[in-house]
Amino acid sequence: MIKVAFFDTKAYDKESFEKAGRDSGLTFKFLETKLTEDTAELAKGYDVVCVFVNDTVNEAVIDKLYEGGVRLIALRCAGYNNVDIRHAYGKVHVVHVPAYSPYAVAEHTAALLLTSVRRIHKAYNRTRDFNFSLGGLTGFDLHGKTVGVIGTGKIGRIFIDICRGFGMRVIAYDRFPAEGSGIEYVSLDELFDQSDIISLHCPLTEETRHLINAEAIEKMKKGAVILNTSRGGLIDAEALLAGIRARKVGAACLDVYEEEADVFFEDRSGHILDDELLSRLISMPNVIVTSHQAFLTEEALENIADTTIANILSYYEKDGLLDNELCYRCGNIEKCKKARKERCF
Ligand code: NAI
Repeated sequence: MIKVAFFDTKAYDKESFEKAGRDSGLTFKFLETKLTEDTAELAKGYDVVCVFVNDTVNEAVIDKLYEGGVRLIALRCAGYNNVDIRHAYGKVHVVHVPAYSPYAVAEHTAALLLTSVRRIHKAYNRTRDFNFSLGGLTGFDLHGKTVGVIGTGKIGRIFIDICRGFGMRVIAYDRFPAEGSGIEYVSLDELFDQSDIISLHCPLTEETRHLINAEAIEKMKKGAVILNTSRGGLIDAEALLAGIRARKVGAACLDVYEEEADVFFEDRSGHILDDELLSRLISMPNVIVTSHQAFLTEEALENIADTTIANILSYYEKDGLLDNELCYRCGNIEKCKKARKERCF
């Protein structure tokens, strides 16, 4: 019997995994706590751990998991910036869900954009209070505006299609531009200079950390709208707040936040929020925050559970390639994934 310990489990995870795993032969233990150096002990005696975006999978945690008998880390998400893949190499195999619903994230990004520029969040609260005035609700047309998309992978490209549907001009920056895609690629500086709206769809890496910082904001158009449904660390939140206070940034829509691990996914109402930066951002009239919700659709949850279970079973059922393995063998995870014809080790 293969035993899987889930960390940071929410009710919707339990529901979708119990449904998808009914006849899989896997046994699940759902833990609500996040995986940290202190909680890694709880995985002792399990074969697999299943983790999410805010679980800590650093050197110390990997060593503890390995000592406790864990041989597979199954991420139930796409991003893997929280996992020390290099340290896992040779010890524990790591798999992820590369795409569960890029539509979910791209559509949420569009929802945030529309909400912000048409002040829907303000109007919703007003009409619930029978306040039917329109003062301060003037928005702007998306048609004819320029959107700069950073990262033109699965999600970025769907977002581009949505924006084109609105009649927007799309420019993009990607470290690895998609040849023959018909996307107009520009340099980052040109993107900052020309975009009315900037949307982030690249992974968080050493290179992309604080991609949006004071210097980048300085280069942007006055009133630029910044959308981040990718990873919080892409934005220097202090610099963003300064840009908003200086009236340089027109609006920010954030589904992710650098320090979200201690706050997001939990009901903190009735508590004093210790994170002053987040409190200040939320208090701004032109900032919308959702708590890492972009992935949360029925379709995505079903795909996450199905793919994660298939990833786990394929580790035990065949000796060949683990399709969704994240491997550090050649030092370049993305390139390696495409070229590899066998398991990482
Ligand atoms: P993807 O791997 O299909 O696309 C990422 C793109 O970023 C690729 O085209 C890649 O070439 C590009 N890129 C890599 N390094 C770059 C750099 N230094 N500068 C500019 N571009 C760079 O990934 P996908 O599925 O489109 O996801 C994008 C991001 O969305 C993920 O990394 C993840 O962090 C985030 N995400 C957020 C979710 C949420 O619920 N808010 C859910 C799922 C993903």
